[in-house]
Amino acid sequence: MCFCRPFELLTDHKKSEGVKKGSDPGHSFAAQNQKLDMAGNRTFTMIKPDAVKAGHIGNILQQINQAGFRIVAMKLTQMSSQKAGDFYAIHRERPFYQELVAFMSSGPIVAAILEKDNAVEEFRKLIGATDPAKADPGTIRARFAKSVGENAVHGSDSDDNAIVESNFHFAATERF
Ligand code: CMP
Repeated sequence: MCFCRPFELLTDHKKSEGVKKGSDPGHSFAAQNQKLDMAGNRTFTMIKPDAVKAGHIGNILQQINQAGFRIVAMKLTQMSSQKAGDFYAIHRERPFYQELVAFMSSGPIVAAILEKDNAVEEFRKLIGATDPAKADPGTIRARFAKSVGENAVHGSDSDDNAIVESNFHFAATERF
């Protein structure tokens, strides 16, 4: 058995912590190295507090399933403002950061890891533009979002961020 590869992967993960710091330190060494089985075919999503509160969880999950995504991990949870701030740390300097953190910690969310070929890009097509007014008809945001701030769903914007965001919310034992 070779023990050198996991150390390389852990080092890679630590480099990406500058993008977004995980807030679940209980996660195992193995969980931090999910890079092994995620490359290119997994993305991370959250159904945001506006859509949960409006009762859209079922319809959004149905649309995700019908588009051919497999649910690898999923949980109903609520982020503290500290955790939401860490998750969106990449936007810390943006004028909407405080509003974003307050909104994302205002109520429960559904966090999930989704699997499909070319998952990040395919999922971003499925959810539509960040601003629902600009989202293509039939996309999740066009159907369920209220505004650019309360836009129903989050989708990772790169394979690297999909890994960081998935590790932020899920341990290895929570993925199937
Ligand atoms: P999301 O895909 O979760 O990633 C960052 C979020 O910032 C984005 O969706 C929006 O909900 C939010 N956001 C982007 N631009 C604005 C804005 N101008 N005002 C408020 N929130 C914004």
